[in-house]
Amino acid sequence: MFVTSHQDYYFIVMTQSFRFAHVSDIHLPTFAKDCANPALMLNKRFFSALSWFGKRRFIHDKAVTDHLISDMQTSQVDHVLVTGDLVNLSLPDEYTRAAHWLSTLGTPESVSAIPGNHDRMRDSALTRTGLDAYAAYMSGDDPDHEARFPYVKRRQDVLMIGLSSSIATPVGWCSGRLGEAQRERLRDILSQAQKENLCRIVALHHPPAGPQKPHKGLEDHQQLADIIAQTGAELILHGHTHQSSMHALPGPQGPVPVMGVASLSVRPDKGYQPGCWHEYTITRRDQTWDIALDVHRFAGFNAPTKRVAQALLSHG
Ligand SMILES: [Fe+2]
Repeated sequence: MFVTSHQDYYFIVMTQSFRFAHVSDIHLPTFAKDCANPALMLNKRFFSALSWFGKRRFIHDKAVTDHLISDMQTSQVDHVLVTGDLVNLSLPDEYTRAAHWLSTLGTPESVSAIPGNHDRMRDSALTRTGLDAYAAYMSGDDPDHEARFPYVKRRQDVLMIGLSSSIATPVGWCSGRLGEAQRERLRDILSQAQKENLCRIVALHHPPAGPQKPHKGLEDHQQLADIIAQTGAELILHGHTHQSSMHALPGPQGPVPVMGVASLSVRPDKGYQPGCWHEYTITRRDQTWDIALDVHRFAGFNAPTKRVAQALLSHG
């Protein structure tokens, strides 16, 4: 980046690439002692605890997470984006550990997060204050803005827009919703950023494109698609499916890539996509952007991560 003078004004020109990591669905370990208070467990958490202790704790492994994060930190990316499901049951000690884990990635200057359905299992004072533990990482450049979401962070000429699709749902459901207020503010942010010719990256937990099942999809995906069709965006990122995936939504200037990343913590021997992190490199080309993706997949504790796919999502 360099600064050049023109008359009385100074312009900051993005001359180098911006690289960031996308990780999601960490599902940090939950322990029996976290569930010791029956008053917190006699609800949907009880069924989710059965799932965690009966099955999911054997699939998600903190050692896989640590290995991938170590690999990511070797790459010295400019920013890390975490798209939700840091915890499993939305319990107080889980939130505390998740906030500490975020702090090990870096400061909010270089790390951004949004919540997933597991970060807000119930709509209660406990989950609202619990999510406050992540607040520093879920705030934009204007932390005093009255609504937490969408938040906006500008780094170089890249604008990261964090949405919350996490809502409380019945047992067996894990669907999400943005709601009208977030959608309308998103429309304004995208329109304004387009005028400023910024690279607009939208992050949400639930996938806004691809197959949508009522009990696990994004309820207002069509309304979001209508906004993207009107305003466009350069890239939309999500988690939730535990699959690295590629879809698109129509935009005014062409398809907008919608990219999902697999869970960060899945062991390779369980029949699911092993843990992954995605590396994005964004480079300005006059009025447009090159957006390149590298998929880094866990390949064993004694091996470096494997680059299993590379793609140029947009080319100026
Ligand atoms: Fe999820």
